[in-house]
Amino acid sequence: MASVTCTAPVNIAVIKYWGKRDTELILPTNDSLSVTLSQDILHSKTSISAQAEFDQDRLWLNGKEEDITKNKRMHNCFRETRALRRAMEEQDGSLPKLSTFGVHVCSENNFPTAAGLASSASGLAALVFALAQLYKLPIDMSDLSRIARQGSGSACRSLFGGFVAWETGKEDDGSDSRAVQIAPDTHWPELEALVCVVSDKKKGTSSTSGMQQTIESSPLMQERLRVVPGRMAAMTQAILDRDFPAFAELTMQDSNQFHSVCLDTYPPIFYLNDTSRGIIQLIHAYNKLHGGYKAAYTFDAGPNAVIYAPKENMKEIIQLIHHYFPAGQDTPRDVYFSDPYQVFQDDAASFDQPPAVNPEVIPIYPGGSVSRLLHTKVHDGPRVLAESDSLLTAEGLPK
Ligand code: DP6
Repeated sequence: MASVTCTAPVNIAVIKYWGKRDTELILPTNDSLSVTLSQDILHSKTSISAQAEFDQDRLWLNGKEEDITKNKRMHNCFRETRALRRAMEEQDGSLPKLSTFGVHVCSENNFPTAAGLASSASGLAALVFALAQLYKLPIDMSDLSRIARQGSGSACRSLFGGFVAWETGKEDDGSDSRAVQIAPDTHWPELEALVCVVSDKKKGTSSTSGMQQTIESSPLMQERLRVVPGRMAAMTQAILDRDFPAFAELTMQDSNQFHSVCLDTYPPIFYLNDTSRGIIQLIHAYNKLHGGYKAAYTFDAGPNAVIYAPKENMKEIIQLIHHYFPAGQDTPRDVYFSDPYQVFQDDAASFDQPPAVNPEVIPIYPGGSVSRLLHTKVHDGPRVLAESDSLLTAEGLPK
């Protein structure tokens, strides 16, 4: 028997992936670029056990067994990693024949799935990274990212820490469509993020089907494809130069363009809601007040905002969001904002102080419009945990 436990981080794109040129291999229509957020705050944790007695592959997700017989994307990840393991076993007859064993996978997120935060990227990255560890594959991360990509496109970027590009590639077989690290997390440690979880009861259009609808119906998407290469180059340079104003402007423009092609999709797709739009207005007002870029927002396929900002501005930004988007009446303070980096440690009262920005700019939203604030940072790629951290028993069942 062999087993391994790993965690993988969430990544939030600043140049968005939206559109596939090949839906089977998951090949994108454009390059994208993301920032990897700290696993200390948000991660997927996955344990995998391979045993000769397991007659099928099984998955437990957040405590519940899932039927994966029709989960093609997971099977792609199993098939690709097994093929690499089999080649090793054929070369070296002394290796245990793990490629012939079934696997049991147990995975959980340390954030509530109900919060609507993207979990497919961290989840599939954790799966593929753990499989590579289990099979002891001598593979570099970019090559492994081609497999993670087939689980979920954005998962390929979660195999690296720091600042990560997913190169579209030109080949039809996807061999050159992979993630590469632009810079490690240590390159720009002052860059931080505030995830604003925006309440949204309804289940929206999934990324997978939404982006396909955009490709099929949005004429504006052609303009996006014309614009993105220049933005990729400018964003890469902004990151290498640690140029926050350039980074901020491009991040917001790209998020806005992504949501514009969603609106241009026919019938239209709406991911932003009134609270999201309030946050957009507030960040622009805040930047204007300071006469420069202090913060940047970005939104994925849902209403949650991710605000990127240098560390020195974060306290003010948290005060600002808290003021305009206060907690719901029944939400305890430490659920709304747990202050993991102790920003308000010496000055707890200032959390409740109104910020300096003109309160006339936007109304104060009803309590609970933003349900929680998660303060996080740019950080490292997947981690291997100790055997004692396993989510599976020695028999390969959830603990
Ligand atoms: C808006 O990676 O979830 O978050 O490849 O179909 O699994 P599939 O889509 P997915 O799409 C993510 C889209 C996005 C932008 C991004 O992360 O770049």
